[in-house]
Amino acid sequence: MNAMSAINKRQYAPAAERNREPISAVLAEHLPASATVLEIASGTGQHAVFFAEQLAPRHWLPSDPNPIARESIASWRAIAQLPNLHEPLALDVTQAQWPDFVTTWQQQNAPESALRAIVNINMIHISPWAACEGLFAGAAQLLTAGDVLYLYGPFKQGGQHTAPSNAAFDRSLRQQNSAWGVRDLDVVCETAQQSGFVLKAVIAMPANNLSVIFHAAD
Ligand SMILES: C[S@@+](CC[C@H](N)C(=O)[O-])C[C@H]1O[C@@H](n2cnc3c(N)ncnc32)[C@H](O)[C@@H]1O
Repeated sequence: MNAMSAINKRQYAPAAERNREPISAVLAEHLPASATVLEIASGTGQHAVFFAEQLAPRHWLPSDPNPIARESIASWRAIAQLPNLHEPLALDVTQAQWPDFVTTWQQQNAPESALRAIVNINMIHISPWAACEGLFAGAAQLLTAGDVLYLYGPFKQGGQHTAPSNAAFDRSLRQQNSAWGVRDLDVVCETAQQSGFVLKAVIAMPANNLSVIFHAAD
């Protein structure tokens, strides 16, 4: 991709610009020091470029099922020219075979850098619940004991919204798609546990979001 077509295909999300620094600080503390990190639902690719730079030498592997998003990620990548940022994969976590694509990619492209973490930002409330289930089920096939699964977004806690702005956001999500909505952290943790993940940390983030860190169990 030449520089001009790359610039034209980049998408920009203001929220990603705002939250990338606090998320990066949490990731720096909780991700394995050297590993391949798979990002599920990379969206525009702004995060991928920022995290690949901030969290090097880790390998950063972005992905998204949406071809327009992948084009944007590829465009940010073409301009950033970072050696540890890979081409985006077409992954949809509701498709049972998504871990197989990652394993094949890993064997062909980065056999020396094990996949030890999966990062998923702002997806499980903007997709059907099956996406959350598919994320944990697939992650369980890819990660081994002590590896990290990181979620970021708004969550209910104890069945309640934690802020009026989250309640309003939840209503607007459900109006767009009745299968979407802000998830309850307890229910997410139950689903995680069923797939063999242990909750390690819940960290309050700006704008009433949470960082939620799971480890793959032994
Ligand atoms: C609100 S955007 C968040 C993008 C990015 N993580 C961010 O925070 O800027 C939600 C993303 O989830 C992706 N997504 C939705 N359903 C998905 C699925 N089943 N598997 C993987 N990604 C999915 C969409 O394509 C979209 O890029």
